Amino acid sequence: MIEVLVVGAGFGRDFLPLYERHPEVSAVGLVEPDGARRRAIADAFGADADYASLDDALATGRWDAVHLLSPVRFHVDQTLAVLTSGRSCASAVPMATTLDGIDRVTDAAAAAAGRYMMMETTLYQREYLHALHLRDSGALGRLTYLSGAHMQDLDGFPPYWMGYAPMQYATHIVAPLLGLADARAEAVVCFGSGELLPAHRGEGGNPYPLESALFRLDTPSPLSAQVTLSFFENARAYTEGFNVYGDRGAIEWPSIEGGPAVVYTAGPQDGAHRGRPVARDEVEVPDRAEHLPDALRRFTRAGRYAPPGGRPELEYHAWHGGSHPHLVHEFVRAVVDDREAALGPARAASVTAPGIVAHESALQGGRMLEIPRY
Ligand SMILES: NC(=O)c1ccc[n+]([C@@H]2O[C@H](COP(=O)([O-])OP(=O)(O)OC[C@H]3O[C@@H](n4cnc5c(N)ncnc54)[C@H](O)[C@@H]3O)[C@@H](O)[C@H]2O)c1
Repeated sequence: MIEVLVVGAGFGRDFLPLYERHPEVSAVGLVEPDGARRRAIADAFGADADYASLDDALATGRWDAVHLLSPVRFHVDQTLAVLTSGRSCASAVPMATTLDGIDRVTDAAAAAAGRYMMMETTLYQREYLHALHLRDSGALGRLTYLSGAHMQDLDGFPPYWMGYAPMQYATHIVAPLLGLADARAEAVVCFGSGELLPAHRGEGGNPYPLESALFRLDTPSPLSAQVTLSFFENARAYTEGFNVYGDRGAIEWPSIEGGPAVVYTAGPQDGAHRGRPVARDEVEVPDRAEHLPDALRRFTRAGRYAPPGGRPELEYHAWHGGSHPHLVHEFVRAVVDDREAALGPARAASVTAPGIVAHESALQGGRMLEIPRY
C-alpha cells in the first residue's frame, strides 16, 4: 500500500477520487496554495491531509508518491524536488518546455530511487486503445501516414497561457502518433500560422496562434506525421485527436468530440472501377475497463460518486476518453512493483522533445531540425 499526494486542485480534482478508490492506495493528500480552494476541495473529496505547498508536504516525511497537476512552469522544479526526496513522481503534461528541462528531469530520474511517469491522457483514451487494436490485428495494413490536431481556444484561461507556444504542448498528438507508428520522431519542419493578437501575447515570445509541423519518423520504410496545434484566433470547437492511414484500413478521429470514430476498409481492386472500393463505418469505440481494478472501472465514464465519510455525492466527468483511471492504475502499479512506468523518463522525453524542436523550427522560418534521441 502507498500514500499518494495530489498537487494542484484544478485538474487535480479529477484524480482525487481515483487514488481514494485504488485498492493499493492507503491515503491521499492534497497540495494547493490557494487557501479557500484547498479547504473546499479537501473537504468535499475527503482528503486525508492538505498542505499549502509541496515543500510543506515533503517535509512531513510522509507520502510515497506525488502526482503533479500544477501549472506547467512548475513541472520541472517540482519533479526534481519530488525525485530527489526519494519519492516517485507522476507529472501532468508536458514534462518540460525546453530541451534543458527534459535533460534535468531524465538525469534526476536516472539517479532516483523512485519512479517517474508523464501522465499523457491520450495514450490511455479509448480511441487510441482501439486504434492500437486495429493496427495489431492487421486491419490497417502497412502504415502510410499519420496526422492529428489539438485545437483549443485558450481565451479566458489563466494569464500564463497567453503567449504560450502551441508546439510546446504537442504531446497529446505526438504521443499517440509515435505510439501507433512504434517510432521516434527524428526531424521536423514547422511553420507558424496566423498572427497572435496583442491581448493573447502575454510575456511569452511566441508570435503564433497556430503551429503546424511535419515530422520524419525513424521507421525502416519512409513515414511522416503531421501535427497541428492551435490555441488562439481559431473558431474550431475543441478537438484533440488523430488519424492513421494504412494500405488496408484507416481510422479517423470523431469530428465532434465524443462522437463515433470513422473506420475505413479498402477491398481489392476489381478491374471494373477506378480505385479500390473503400467501406466507411462509424464505430462506437469500446472501453477497455477490464484492465482496471474493480473499484476504478466505472470511472472510465461520467457519473456520480460518493466521497468517503458520508460526504455529499459529487459529479465525475471522465474527460479525456476514459483515460484517467488507467493512468492512475499504471502509476500506482509502477510504484508498488518498483518497475519502469509505461511512460517513463525516456519515452516521456521522446514525445515531449519533438514539439519543443518544432517550435524552434517555426521560429527559424521552417528550417528542418534534428530531434535528440533519448
Ligand atoms: N489532458 C491532460 O493531460 C491535461 C488536461 C488539463 C490540464 N493538464 C495539465 O494539468 C496541469 C494543471 O492544469 P489546470 O488546468 O488545473 O491548471 P490551473 O492553473 O487551472 O490550476 C492549477 C492549480 O494549481 C495551483 N497551483 C498554482 N501554483 C502552484 C504550485 N506552485 N504548487 C502547487 N499548486 C499550484 C493553482 O492554485 C491551481 O489550483 C497543467 O500542467 C496542465 O498542463 C493536462
